[in-house]
Amino acid sequence: MTAEIIDGIGQKQAAIDAAVTILKDGQPVAIPTETVYGLAADATNPLAITRIYETKGRPRFNPLICHMADLAMAERHAEFDPISKTLATKFWPGPLTLILPLKEDGRSIHPLATAGLDTVGIRVPKGFSADLIAALDRPLAAPSANTSGKISPTSARHVAEDLGEKLALIVDGGSAPVGVESTILRVEDGKIRLLRPGGLSVEHIEAATGLTVERREGPAAIIEAPGMLASHYAPGAAVRLEATHVDAGEALIRLGGIVVEGMDKAKAVFDLSPSGDLAEAAANLFDYLKRADATGADRIAVTAIPSHGLGEAINDRLVRAAAPRE
Ligand code: TXA
Ligand code: MG
Repeated sequence: MTAEIIDGIGQKQAAIDAAVTILKDGQPVAIPTETVYGLAADATNPLAITRIYETKGRPRFNPLICHMADLAMAERHAEFDPISKTLATKFWPGPLTLILPLKEDGRSIHPLATAGLDTVGIRVPKGFSADLIAALDRPLAAPSANTSGKISPTSARHVAEDLGEKLALIVDGGSAPVGVESTILRVEDGKIRLLRPGGLSVEHIEAATGLTVERREGPAAIIEAPGMLASHYAPGAAVRLEATHVDAGEALIRLGGIVVEGMDKAKAVFDLSPSGDLAEAAANLFDYLKRADATGADRIAVTAIPSHGLGEAINDRLVRAAAPRE
């Protein structure tokens, strides 16, 4: 099988029709979202969900994010406390996932999508994917559309290079504008806990709610997630962080035009954002990691990235990319 790539912008209705046909047949489809490309399947169909795991080569079942067309659809499946409702109202559609109690009658979502938990991770994405979900009229379970452990795709080409032989259809929606996965939050006892930093910054969440977001300390307290394994988002080359120089054989990823020693020796130099804009840097991160890897460098050196705003998500992904491999 070689995936057909269909233009989800210029031929949007044809792309929706083609995707709906495949999804109704219980097969996964790669779709654009504003964060990263997702490998989507009908969240109510256990065989379809199993195929996501097979296609990704993901070794174990983990809870998947269930994508909804809008807040009304989300409310049919999950219970919203007042803070979660505020977050959903302010930030959906967008790069935010909320972990919520599954409703008794929301159980059309198959337990394979939630790994049998009594909670569900829900996100309302922007654009093509929301329209597709509305057309299908069912939630879509979707992890990132990459082989397990590899860098998440931010373009249709990334998906095609990795999973093209295993998929029937890839919808091309252009470059994912956010570029890192959604921020995952869980509200409990009136407190907002950050389970995964992502495309919505903690500063925005705190400003919108007037509440402090609690960061996880120590080892994962929640369900161990693929994005929480130490080595994840890994390119083929080793990754060296907070680089202040370049060694022979290294490619360099920098930010804001910073100049470091030995740059002339670098196999290639990529600037995540010449102006130092962290949103632009997040959008470029995965593509530049892949490109740096493609230079054949033994190692990718990355200069320090500030930790505020989207820098928190960028640093989270970089630390995992640099973690020792199993
Ligand atoms: O931006 C994104 O979030 C992308 C796009 C495709 O939407 N999706 C994505 O999915 O990153 P995935 O499967 O790579 O990450 C799902 C994360 C995992 O860390 C998982 O543990 C967590 O969501 N999760 C899902 N349901 C959960 C639940 N009920 N309780 C705790 N964590 C949950
Ligand atoms: Mg992923």
